[in-house]
Amino acid sequence: MMTANEIRDSFKQFFEGKGHKIEASAPMVIKDDPTLMFTNAGMNQWKDIILGTRDPEPRRRADSQKCLRVSGKHNDLEEVGHDTYHHTMFEMLGNWSFGDYFKREAIDYAWEYLVDVLHLNPQDIYVTVFEGSEEEGIARDDEAAEYWSKHLPADHIINGNKHDNFWEMGETGPCGPCSEIHLDSRSAKEKAEVHGASLVNKDNPQVIEIWNIVFMQFNRKSDGSLQPLPMHVIDTGMGFERLVRSLQGKTSNYDTDVFQPVIQEISRLSGLKYGADEKVDVAMRVVADHLRAVAFSIADGQLPGNAKLDTLFVVSFAAPFVTPTPSWSNVRPSCLSCCPPSSTRWARPIPN
Ligand code: SER
Repeated sequence: MMTANEIRDSFKQFFEGKGHKIEASAPMVIKDDPTLMFTNAGMNQWKDIILGTRDPEPRRRADSQKCLRVSGKHNDLEEVGHDTYHHTMFEMLGNWSFGDYFKREAIDYAWEYLVDVLHLNPQDIYVTVFEGSEEEGIARDDEAAEYWSKHLPADHIINGNKHDNFWEMGETGPCGPCSEIHLDSRSAKEKAEVHGASLVNKDNPQVIEIWNIVFMQFNRKSDGSLQPLPMHVIDTGMGFERLVRSLQGKTSNYDTDVFQPVIQEISRLSGLKYGADEKVDVAMRVVADHLRAVAFSIADGQLPGNAKLDTLFVVSFAAPFVTPTPSWSNVRPSCLSCCPPSSTRWARPIPN
């Protein structure tokens, strides 16, 4: 079985072999973009290139970007710990084409990596394509559907609406139609009873999106209009923790070698067993998730320069430990038990 580190390396090696320069992750706290507080996607650090104001060379790049989704348009905070596949902080594996290849190659590369390199079963793979939007004046993405049809039968290619299949960085900024790759990890019996296609984007914890391929073509202006970008851009983002879970044959991200060492340490410190009581499990997952976010934040250099941010994180993750209740099952298993709602918690820029 591949370890998480080996899986990350294999992604980089694959795209390096396709002529991509391997780049470092940008910091999670954004310093120079007033439209965004935290890095919420791999494309953030390339925004200037995408908008045409920075040299795009080299035009093929790949990386593993640390992302934080706790506010704004992309906010997963409420799901964390309650389910087994959303995180505050996660790694996003991405490959980029700035005016080089576009839909055909992006789809073929994704397929080759998942099926030929990682040996995922094609029968477990479903993809979505943008169904189009009259409001935006954009037709269905027949082109992406055609490229997918080289690899998958028609009942594995599903139309998706603007909510799921038109990716936008925020209220303004680069955006475009996207094609998501979903993986069905249910048992053979469950698969025989219910077709996987009917469970895509239906919150089934075993039929989840693992990779999003965005065909960046527009810049959303503050008046809501779409302006064509100076070049076509490929922006892909794969959930590293979800990929690891699939490859390690687990049904939860927290059962992988990304999280198990932390969960076991929480268990040792607390004297509580993971897997015995769902409420305790949720609390342990929240702590493990937040601890990872804090660790990566500190590694990013956020202490002591941005101590307020770290204080927020520490308060969030430490709360279940310090709440003076005799049993964790009495603790509301979310950092919302101790902090104000996310909209107020994260709404203001954090002073230096
Ligand atoms: N920008 C897309 C996302 O964040 C793909 O990288 O999902």
